[in-house]
This record gives sequence, structure tokens and C-alpha cells, in this order.
Amino acid sequence: MSLQRTSFLTTAIDYTNGSPHIGHAYEKVLADVMSRYLRLRGKPVYFLTGVDQHGQKVQASAQKAGTDPETFVAEKTERFVSLWAKLGVAYDGWAATTDLRHQRVVQAILQRLYDEGQLYKSEYQGFYSVRQEQFLTDKERGPDGEFGPEWGEVVEIEEANYYFRLKEHGPWLIGLLDKRPDLVYPASRQQELRNAVERLGEDLCISRPKDRLSWGIPFPFDPEYVTFVWFDALVNYISFAGYLKEEVGTPKPGEQDLPTFEELWPPLAHVIGKDILIPAHGVYWYIMLHALGFSDDQMPPLLVHGFWNSGGARMSKSVGNVADPHVLADQYGAEAVRYFLSRDISTGQDADFSEDRLVQRFNTDLANDLGNLLNRTLNMAGRYREGRLRAVPMTHASLQGLADELHQLPAVVGKAFDGWRIHEGLEAIIRLVSRCNGVVDELAPWKLAKDPEAAELLDEVLYALAEALRIFSVLLSPVIPRAAEKMLTQLGCPAKPEWSDAVWRGEVDTWLLGEPEPVFPRILGEEEIARNAQSPKNSKKKGV
Ligand code: MSP
Repeated sequence: MSLQRTSFLTTAIDYTNGSPHIGHAYEKVLADVMSRYLRLRGKPVYFLTGVDQHGQKVQASAQKAGTDPETFVAEKTERFVSLWAKLGVAYDGWAATTDLRHQRVVQAILQRLYDEGQLYKSEYQGFYSVRQEQFLTDKERGPDGEFGPEWGEVVEIEEANYYFRLKEHGPWLIGLLDKRPDLVYPASRQQELRNAVERLGEDLCISRPKDRLSWGIPFPFDPEYVTFVWFDALVNYISFAGYLKEEVGTPKPGEQDLPTFEELWPPLAHVIGKDILIPAHGVYWYIMLHALGFSDDQMPPLLVHGFWNSGGARMSKSVGNVADPHVLADQYGAEAVRYFLSRDISTGQDADFSEDRLVQRFNTDLANDLGNLLNRTLNMAGRYREGRLRAVPMTHASLQGLADELHQLPAVVGKAFDGWRIHEGLEAIIRLVSRCNGVVDELAPWKLAKDPEAAELLDEVLYALAEALRIFSVLLSPVIPRAAEKMLTQLGCPAKPEWSDAVWRGEVDTWLLGEPEPVFPRILGEEEIARNAQSPKNSKKKGV
């Protein structure tokens, strides 16, 4: 038996100085959909995500809230953990950077790099952005010679710190990007990164004096300093994957056991947003790994997704255009949120978030098309065949055409998902769902049911529709797992499918379908609710 490599997927770990917004939810759903898809295809997967809990911003936010950083991050972390549970984001590993085992790995790495001369101490006099927790050089000045508003409060400081010899690895990184042109997806981001590396000017300051920042990982060889938050956070990808596991100790009771590093590394992808490619992942992280002795083949591919904006503008708390995924999931359900975030963006591009579009997508694709097809198919099968179907050959041209397309659908969807083009796979599925509804309208099974001569054609139609629904449920299960499970159960099929179930079955003796129960109740607007006051059941209320 050939040994299958585990597909290791990670996402950025979310800052706990704020609460989760729709951008965080998108990234986790994207990685979760991909993990579920790979599992469905029979591949072992390890999905790691978590929270970034240290840093000056957290320290400042805690202080402002009149509490200590531990209490502050515990409360914020809970907001993320409960959101992932609500949205069905099923991760295998949880990376919280205050975990002592992670801290020990960061310290071991610092010690090693220090011993090998990759770190040095130096006096710095210059400007520092409090908001970005970063030292500024003239490169960061705008055309007017000033530091722009993106840097927030800029202060002049003079202090000694530890630096990582970033600059000397620049030529290696250029070589790597040339050697591995597919390291960063999409290709335009790889080009952007290459341009940035060519301009690489400074080494990286990786320490902060303890008197200025206490909420961080102490330096092992100089306790007067704590680790710069990025140097700490990036290490999560290896520390929680089992790197240096033996050196940093075994888990305590109740602690999650860490995986075996060699089985996971290199990952299939680090899933990150476009704002943290340069310099954090594209420059700091690759160079950190290189300095630690990781080979070029072990460099992790980066999957760089776009941003969800709002009304064409970047979402920001101060503008007040941030969508809260907790509220959306409570109001419309997790499947509606997952479906929208998967369907309305093309991976790598930006998209515009709107609650109305979320509702529209759900109602059009899931309630009107898919839900309706499920409902009418189960109803007709119940009424005309007592819910019992069997495989019959397709003789009608429309049904043959449909069966042909269904036959090709898994390959189409698989190709799209393999390339992270989730929206394209969904589009192909929903197109065929509509076609099924078209076939129902065309062949009018309710008329066939009245004609004894048409009994065989009716068997064909019902079998084709039920088969189609079964295949759709399997293929949709990575995106809307809970709904897919309900659909499969109503169809009288195993609720936990495999990819190979998504094939048209030529032989089925007796197939007993279940009762229809609404899986995608239409989301109603205020006016519709007023209009439908007589029959409000099976509908969700749309928010104002
Ligand atoms: N803590 C760092 C990452 C450290 S990874 C070693 C961080 N956190 S974050 O909370 O600001 O962002 C987490 C992820 O959410 C990032 O990948 C970021 O790009 C993504 N997004 C933040 N806003 C977003 C949108 N509006 N849209 C899509 N993704 C967005 O950066």
C-alpha cells in the first residue's frame, strides 16, 4: 500500500485585539471547505488554525478595557472559538500563541539563531509606528516627506534591540522565487513579492524591551526583551505541527497532543490574506525557515486570497461597515453564510460584501433551485411511487442529456476545487440543479402520472432527479456540510458520503426515499413577511 501524504492546511491566526469579522470567517471557511473536499476525496488532512494573542496592540487594548492581557485574550479567543463551532469550521489543531509549548519552540528557535550568528544586538535611533508595531525608515515616508495616516501615531525612539539578518538572505529568496514559480498563488502576488524582495533594505528588529512591551515571549538569552509579535506568530505553523516536539516536552493532561512534524511538512498551503503577504509571510517567514535550515523544497506554498470590502471600501470599525459573522450566522444560518462566502468571491480576487446579496444568493440558488428540487422530487416520488425507486435506463433525450452532464459533473467540480476555484465548482452544480428543474417543467411528471402508458417515463424522471440530488448533495457537502447531511438523509442515503458516491448508479434495486423536510427555507424580507402573514412557517426573517 502506498503511503499517502497528509495534506496540511493552515490559515493565518487571528489577532485577539479585536472580534471576528467577515474577513476572518471567509478565510477559515475557505480552508475548511478545502479540507472537507480533500477528505471527501479520501486524502488525510490536517487543518491548523488559531489565534495570535501577544503584542503591543493586545496589551494596549487590555489596558484600555481596564483588564489584564490574559483575561482580555481569553474573552476574545472565545469569540473566535465559538464562531468556528457555529460555522462548522472543523480544524484538527488549535494554535494559540500563549500555549507554553509554542513559547518554548519560539525560544528554542531564537536561541538557535542567536548561537548561529543570525541575530545581533544594535542601537537604534529613529521613528516607530505604535499602531503597526514597526520601526520606520525613509522608505515609509510619503511623497510629502511625512509618515502617512496608515502608520497611526509615530514616535521618535532610541533603544537597543535584537536584529535578524534578513538582508543577507535576499538573493537566496529571489533565487527561490525564480526556481519555484508556483510558490505563491495567484502568480501576480508572486511577482509582487519578487519586486519587494528586490528592494529589501533593512534587517528585521525582532525584540521589544520589556519595559515597553511585557505581553510577549521573553528572549531566552536576554530576559529584558520580549519577541516581536510577527516572529512569535509565524512560528505557529511549525510549533503546532510538531517541530522540535521532543525538545519542548510532552503534553500535560488535557493538552492536545501535537502531530508528527515529518508527516505534515511541507504544507499544501498557508492560506492568508493579501495584506500579510509582504513582508510578513513572503519575506520574514521564508527567510526564517531558510535560516533554520529548511530546504527550498520545504518552503510552504502561500495561497493568497483577496479581501471582502463593503460598498467598495475596506471594512473598518471606525467607518462602521464591518459585518459580524456571529450575527449573520444567527440570523440566516451557518450554511447561508458558508455558501455566500464560497460562491460570491473568486479566490485571489476581492469581492464586495452585502447582506442583501447573501440573502439573494441563498434564496435563488439554495431555496428556489435546490430546495425546491428536493422538495418536489421527494413529494412526487412519495405520491406516485410510495417513495420507492429503482434504476432504469434513460430513454428520453432530455434525461439522457442530464445523465451525461451528471456523469461529467464530479470531474468539473473536482478540477475547480483542486485549483481553489470553489465558486466555479458551485456554479457548475447550481447550473445543473436549474437544468433539473427545467426537466421537471418540461416533462411534467404530474401529467405522466395520469397516463398509464407513461409509467416507464415517470420512473425514469423520478430516478434521474433523485440520482441528481444525491450527486449534488455529495459534491456540495464540503461547502454546506450540515445541509448536505440532511439532504442525504431525506434521500435515504448514508449521511457521510465519499467522493466515489457522486456517480450515476446504473443498478439500484430498491431505493427507499424519505419524507421531505425543508432544508433551505426561503429568507423573507419585511414586505414578504407582511404579505405572507397567513403562512409564515418554514421561513426565516430577513434582518433590517
Ligand atoms: N495575526 C495576524 C496573522 C498572523 S499569521 C502568522 C493577522 N491577523 S488578522 O486578524 O488581522 O487577520 C487574519 C486574517 O484575516 C488575515 O489573513 C487577513 O488577511 C484576513 N482578513 C482580514 N480582513 C479581511 C477581509 N476584509 N477580507 C478577507 N480577509 C481578511 O493578520
